[in-house]
Amino acid sequence: AFAQDTVKIGLILPMTGQQASTGKQIDAAVKLYMAQNGTSVAGKKIEVILKDDTSVPDVTKRLAQELVVNDKVAILAGFGITPSAMATAPIATQAKVPEVVMAAGTSSITEASPFIVRTSFTLAQSAVPMAEWAVKNGIKKVVTMVSDYGPGIDAEKSFSDKFKADGGTIVENLRVPLRSPDFAPVLQKAADAKADALFVFVPSGSGAQFVKQFVERGLDKSGMKLIATGDVTDDDQLNGMGDVVVGVINAHNYSANHDSALNKTYVEAFKKANNGLRPNFMSVGGYDGMALIYGALKKTNGAADGEKLVAAMKGMAWESPRGPISIDTDTRDIIQNIYIRKVDKVGGELYNVEFATIPNVKDPVKAAK
Ligand code: DHB
Repeated sequence: AFAQDTVKIGLILPMTGQQASTGKQIDAAVKLYMAQNGTSVAGKKIEVILKDDTSVPDVTKRLAQELVVNDKVAILAGFGITPSAMATAPIATQAKVPEVVMAAGTSSITEASPFIVRTSFTLAQSAVPMAEWAVKNGIKKVVTMVSDYGPGIDAEKSFSDKFKADGGTIVENLRVPLRSPDFAPVLQKAADAKADALFVFVPSGSGAQFVKQFVERGLDKSGMKLIATGDVTDDDQLNGMGDVVVGVINAHNYSANHDSALNKTYVEAFKKANNGLRPNFMSVGGYDGMALIYGALKKTNGAADGEKLVAAMKGMAWESPRGPISIDTDTRDIIQNIYIRKVDKVGGELYNVEFATIPNVKDPVKAAK
C-alpha cells in the first residue's frame, strides 16, 4: 500500500513506571476500540504506533518529535500526565499535527496549542461539584491535600474557591510530591487541623497507597470524612482498597458501575479482552479519543491534514461509556456529565455508585475567563 493510504497515530503512554496503570488502561481501550470498529476508516488504514515515555516529559517530547519526523504520524495521542502533554504542545503546533490528550487533566493544556483536543477531563470539572456537594451536606471546615503539580494545583484552587464562595472554610491547603509520595507527614497535619473533611486529589495509580497510609494513621476513625475527586477511588485499584473506603463520597466523569447499556457492553468486552481487568476513567479517555479520531476522519473523508482534522473534531458529540460527551467548539476541551458517587459494595465488589448527575459540565476554569 502507498503511504497516503495509511493514517498513522503515534500513541505515547507511560507503559512502565509510576503511571503504568494509565498506559495499560489506555492501550487496552485503544485496542478494544479498533477490534470493535475495524482498522480502517474512510478508506484509510489506521496504524497505531505505541511508545513508552515512562512518564518523563523529556522522553515524551523526543518520542513525539521522532514520530512526526521519522514515522510521519498524522496524529499524536495519549499523554499520561500533564507535563508530557505540555512538552508535546510545541511539536503539535509546529508540525500542525493534532494532539489528542486522552489522560492529562490540567485546565491550561488545551491552551498550549491550537492542535490540542482533549477527551479526558479537567480537575475543576470534578472539584467544583465536589465542593458544592460538601457545603450542601453540612461540611463546614475542610483540609485539602493534592499532588504538587498542575492537576493537583487546579483541584486545590477550584475546590477551595468554590467551597469558600459557598460559605465553607478552608483550614489548610496541603501538597505532596508527585514522585514517590509519602503521605504520612501531611496526614499528620490534616489530623491536627481537626476539619470536618479532608478533600484529596492524587493521580490515577496512587489512590491505594494514599488510602493505606490514611488507615495506618487511624484517620478512618478520626471522624474526619474523606471526600475526593474520582482519581483517588480509581476503578483500577478500588476493589483492593478494602472496606475502609465504603461510604467515601467523590465526584468524577466515569464509573465502571455507570448504568447504561453501552457501558455494560464496554465493561464486559474490556474485561474479556484483558484477563478480567476492570476499565477505569483513563480507559474511556483512550476509547473516546479513538472515537474522536475515527469520527473526524469520517468527516474529512479520510483527509489527514491536521487543520482539517481539528476543525472536524470541534463540536463533535457522541455517547461514551461514561455518558453523553462533546468537544467544545471554542476551547477544544471535553464537555461531560459529572457524577457524585458513593463507594459501595455491589455483588461483593467495591464500586463508585453514582447517585447524582451534573449534566454537560464545561471546564469551569475556562468558563470563568
Ligand atoms: C493527571 C494524571 C492523572 O493520573 C490523573 O488522575 C489526573 C490528572 C495529570 O497529570 O494531568
